Amino acid sequence: MQKEKPDKLRILVVGSGGREHALVRKLKRDGAEVFCAPGNAGIARHAKLVNIKATDLIKLGAFATVEHINLTVVGPEAPLAAGIVDYFRGLNLTIFGPTAAAAKLESSKAWATTFMTKHRIPHPQSVVCRDAASACVILERSVGPVVIKADGLASGKGVFIVRSLKEAQDVIDRLMVKRELGDAGKRVVIQDFLKGREASCMAITDGTSVLALPLARDYKPANPGKDAPMTGGMGAYLPLPDVSPQLEEQILTTIIFPTLSAMCAEENPFTGVLYAGLMLTDDGPKVLEFNVRFGDPETQAVLARLKSSLADILWAAATGTLDELSPPEWSSDDAVCVVAASDGYPGKPKTGYIINGLSAAETEFDSDDMHILHAGTIRTDESGDYLNAGGRALNAVATGGSWKLAREKAYGLLTMFNFPGMWYRRDIAEGL
Ligand code: GLY
Repeated sequence: MQKEKPDKLRILVVGSGGREHALVRKLKRDGAEVFCAPGNAGIARHAKLVNIKATDLIKLGAFATVEHINLTVVGPEAPLAAGIVDYFRGLNLTIFGPTAAAAKLESSKAWATTFMTKHRIPHPQSVVCRDAASACVILERSVGPVVIKADGLASGKGVFIVRSLKEAQDVIDRLMVKRELGDAGKRVVIQDFLKGREASCMAITDGTSVLALPLARDYKPANPGKDAPMTGGMGAYLPLPDVSPQLEEQILTTIIFPTLSAMCAEENPFTGVLYAGLMLTDDGPKVLEFNVRFGDPETQAVLARLKSSLADILWAAATGTLDELSPPEWSSDDAVCVVAASDGYPGKPKTGYIINGLSAAETEFDSDDMHILHAGTIRTDESGDYLNAGGRALNAVATGGSWKLAREKAYGLLTMFNFPGMWYRRDIAEGL
């Protein structure tokens, strides 16, 4: 593994969503030469796109070797679960992320539940079920709403909040009998439904030192209604006015540090970024889920406040030198990210529509305090028009000296472009 940091880093970012656009944009502003595989139409403004799928480890490894990439940063969970970090390290390439064994914190909810129980990491009371009959027995005995989670990776589609036995039995039938999510539904975790406010804590680690990023909050339901379908995340903001420094400290000392220590104790050290999706309950913070990568769309809002070099941080984390880095500088401004989605999302999105006004808007607003990120877009060769190409299409990101200003700027950006069926939540960071 390369230890000597070159003057100009050549960085490969793997992935193609809004999170990856935020990473690429910041790394480019930090002075790195950035490549992105496969990227999207907006990322092409800041990086050279490489036409390799995020899960094609062999081709990615060959590209990084031939192109003398100094650092690879992995956005999505699938390549991490498939072992991209193990594979790249075997090729003597420097990469930011966890090994496949450590990525089980996200790739198997059953594994993570057993791990948290064993190491007394606060989490909702949970039962792992290996077949539909035992799941139904547990559900028959449950009182009140429960959460059913598919064990494996399911692109944000594997979590169900159920409020009646009938609803719960239907979910079990879909996951474990009909296998609508394939092998991800072979096992399920049934959890108590917790009340409280959610928070996302991301901590970067080289396996020894830890750099906690400021807490953020994301909005998973498609709308504020009680029965709204879950999405990958419709917006995010930070800082969190309802989280005191003491509570933040409690999150680190009861969840983040013990989790990383326990991973080391199990000889399965975690490197990369650990994302803890938390419920802040009257009983203290509890882990709803671990992810082993940057959150989307939290990262878009968090990076808008980062004044220091992200390239330096990720390089230090990937080379085991995080302890040598000065603490990063953050803007004290409020930051908001609002996701613009396609009609039909989170079901089957209607795609292929021209996005009017986007080129002009993103050229006019490309500053740290106001910018547009692409999550699911393509660009036509003939006309150069941008088209929506995914459920979550674009992100409007803004910072400001007050919530009012940050919101006005983010929602102002959303009035500058549109495509048929485009929708977004109107209440991101409202009422703060
Ligand atoms: N925002 C939730 C996630 O990244 O999974």
